[in-house]
Amino acid sequence: MLGAPGAGKGTQAGLIAEKYKISHISTGDILREAVKQGTELGRAAQSYMSKGELAPDEVVIGIVAERLQQPDCANGFLLDGFPRTAAQARALDEVLDEHRLSLDAVLSLEVDEAEVVRRLSGRRVCAKCGAIYSSSEAARGPQVCETCGGELITRSDDQPEAVRRRLQVYKAQTEPLVEYYARAGILKRVPATGTVEEVFARIAQTLDGVGSA
Ligand code: AP5
Repeated sequence: MLGAPGAGKGTQAGLIAEKYKISHISTGDILREAVKQGTELGRAAQSYMSKGELAPDEVVIGIVAERLQQPDCANGFLLDGFPRTAAQARALDEVLDEHRLSLDAVLSLEVDEAEVVRRLSGRRVCAKCGAIYSSSEAARGPQVCETCGGELITRSDDQPEAVRRRLQVYKAQTEPLVEYYARAGILKRVPATGTVEEVFARIAQTLDGVGSA
């Protein structure tokens, strides 16, 4: 799943994983969990993440290659936030070839920059389980997670300076992958404006039209 920061990848990935009963692999979530646990990986990733820079390719490629071998990926998986660079896309091709797997589709969630800045400026996430809340959802209820009761916080990389940098990095390093997967014939562009439910309906319609989804 490709899309600018704040395009709604995490929100939609949760719904897709539930509907199609596949594993949701978010490199951002894996790195944030490592930061929270204070592991070596987390300590290495933290400085990149808080500034809105990408973690080094070799680190992230290693994480995904290992994750794809876990038993829960046998029935399919959704990659959210990976690949993000040309090197990561090539490495993914190699890992998939090695395991005789292929991608059914690459979803590109398309939304303009003003909207993603608006979405990120109000986003709250649960400090405990990572559930994502929009500004309006967070404003409506008490400042705790509906699922686990955890505290709702602002991600450190949702500060305006880090958001600006993440958007620059996305344009320079990740957006070219849209063309890469268009050439491979598996790109599906999905307008990501409208409500969460409307976007999900477009995604489901797209995936239902893909043979093995
Ligand atoms: P990552 O966690 O992947 O962040 P990101 O790509 O910047 O995307 P976000 O999580 O910010 O946004 P999203 O598209 O998931 O939107 P969301 O659903 O939350 O990566 C974070 C960092 O980790 C990177 O900067 C990098 O440092 C590192 N990293 C991760 N992967 C890496 C890799 N492969 N290589 C190197 N480094 C890597 O929605 C946003 C908000 O909008 C929410 O509040 C939500 O409620 C709201 N919203 C969603 N949909 C709608 C809608 N339709 N209408 C209104 N509001 C909506």
